[in-house]
Amino acid sequence: MIVERITSGIIGLDDLIGGGFQKGKTYLISGEAGTGKTIFCLQFTLEGITKGENTVYLTIDERPTHLVQDAATFGWDLEAPIREKHLNIIDITPEFSELRVGRFKGNVENEKIIDEIRDQVKKVKAKRVVIDPIAPMFASSENQFQLREYIRQLMFSLDDLGTTNLVSSIIDTGSNMISKFGVEEFFASGVIVLWMEREEMVYDRVMMVRKMRGTPIDLRVRKFTIDSKTGITLYG
Ligand SMILES: Nc1ncnc2c1ncn2[C@@H]1O[C@H](COP(=O)(O)OP(=O)(O)OP(=O)(O)O)[C@@H](O)[C@H]1O
Ligand SMILES: [Mg+2]
Repeated sequence: MIVERITSGIIGLDDLIGGGFQKGKTYLISGEAGTGKTIFCLQFTLEGITKGENTVYLTIDERPTHLVQDAATFGWDLEAPIREKHLNIIDITPEFSELRVGRFKGNVENEKIIDEIRDQVKKVKAKRVVIDPIAPMFASSENQFQLREYIRQLMFSLDDLGTTNLVSSIIDTGSNMISKFGVEEFFASGVIVLWMEREEMVYDRVMMVRKMRGTPIDLRVRKFTIDSKTGITLYG
């Protein structure tokens, strides 16, 4: 069976992952603060818009206007696609102040959030969904078993939407985990990890494709740059 691939929007990455992400699946992009997760998500979004694949972008704890401004520093215009209803950026922080998954009534809240995402996807007939970042959706004090269950439910529900999804997860500084809660990577179809490597007095930005179901991967660490004209570009 031939699997349809969705291009990532990151120059140099698709060749490493069999031509792109598998359509309809959910992928994780993780890294410590400032490693480029949001820029990666923005490039995935813009690639979608360029290809006529409408996108829903969910932010939590970050204002959509800030995202629009950050994108503009690269010369990327998000206002036009928003106006033309090709892009829907939603700050779900207000809903989460009441609904934060697992904080009070658990399951019910999780379903409400999934319904909300489903509604937004319908509204713009989205083909791509981004959640950047996933961590604030979950109360970290939640017991580990419950937390794992909520994350599993959310990520499996994303798979049921038919959209191709990118979820970012922040890695705590200095931790040797590859996600915030240490479970996101199990439920994602693929995982890309971003970090910085020190060489004497300089840090290099690097990434590795850590997991990609149904796709052979090269485990070499790749250097990349973030450039104000092209965003993330992968080398080697
Ligand atoms: N216009 C730009 N040109 C070049 N580099 C930029 C530009 N805008 C941001 N950067 C660089 O990209 C880095 C990564 O930013 P990004 O917001 O994607 O990180 P992040 O992993 O999402 O961080 P956080 O976990 O805090 O959300 C920034 O720290 C900055 O150095
Ligand atoms: Mg970010």
